[in-house]
Amino acid sequence: MPLPKRSFSGIQPTGNLHLGNYLGAIKQWVKLQDTVDGIYCIVDLHACTATHDPVVLRRSVSAVAAFYLAAGLDPAKSTIFVQSAVGAHSELAWILGCVARFGELARMTQFKEKGEGRESVSVGLFTYPVLMAADILLYDANVVPVGEDQKQHVELCRDVAERFNATFGDTFILPEPLILGTGGRIMGLDQPTKKMSKSAGSPNNYIALEDDPDTITRKIKTAVTDTGGQICYAPEEKPGISNLLTIYSLLTGETMSDLEARYTGKGYGFFKRELTEVVVENLRPLQTRYRALKKDPAAVGEILRQGAERAAGIAGKTLSRARKRFGMEPV
Ligand code: TYM
Repeated sequence: MPLPKRSFSGIQPTGNLHLGNYLGAIKQWVKLQDTVDGIYCIVDLHACTATHDPVVLRRSVSAVAAFYLAAGLDPAKSTIFVQSAVGAHSELAWILGCVARFGELARMTQFKEKGEGRESVSVGLFTYPVLMAADILLYDANVVPVGEDQKQHVELCRDVAERFNATFGDTFILPEPLILGTGGRIMGLDQPTKKMSKSAGSPNNYIALEDDPDTITRKIKTAVTDTGGQICYAPEEKPGISNLLTIYSLLTGETMSDLEARYTGKGYGFFKRELTEVVVENLRPLQTRYRALKKDPAAVGEILRQGAERAAGIAGKTLSRARKRFGMEPV
């Protein structure tokens, strides 16, 4: 397969970023940045689809930006910006909303899970995947590195783009989701059959990227494991230990079979202590850089400003093309 030319992805600034966000998404972005033009967004418009506090939202935007940088995204190689700073996202979302179908949006698993059938949910939550399609299509992205939970949204994006192209002429590049085999879905520590999530009821569900060593130790110690006590990767039969092995393997680069061989007969307690060390030592440099960046909001702000400038240039061209095909004057 030829190398993809451009990658686009984003994270909502809601709540704590956790190990699932890092391993499923951000770590992939950092790995891609020497070979692909990466554009990474902090999707604050998406964060408003649930009830939010404007002051907290602004704070979370800065925190996520600092985490992108602390995790290794280099603004000299990757473009980092805030979604609401580029007006083209909202405008293309309206156009695509006139092309997407009510039925296909109603089938989105995430909407069904978050909406729980309530009439009081925002219309924004329903049209959320249309805005996400606009995000991706504006940048002619070939690949979208995300966790498994976003696969359906990227597929919807492809369907809407294909329909637009077929009706109004070739306009958009069809993107491919880029999802890790293991690690595309990191599970909750307290409930290893459900994905790790920032909106989980208990903080014991996730390891936040900001957690200190004591908190990480406690969370891994209380993580649910399986009956039997063997340390082997079998996600169906042993979801708890398999999830912990996945985290270990993704952080160290060691294969599952190497880990299984090393920990044969060692017991969960021993394995958990070693995993704790791996997690703490992997997050330590990231947390140190994060704390330094938090002390320099002007520098982070300037990176976001420059990112938005570049993003707006690319997005403006795609939006003009789409407007023209759709029957409007180009911008
Ligand atoms: P969000 O903010 O829920 O999650 C951000 C990224 O983290 C991944 N992720 C996980 N990966 C593995 N295991 C987990 N437990 C886990 N939890 C979260 C998500 O798959 C995602 O990649 N709709 C998106 C944001 C978005 C977007 C976009 C993404 C808006 N526009 C355009 C890509 C392209 C979302 O809510 O992600």
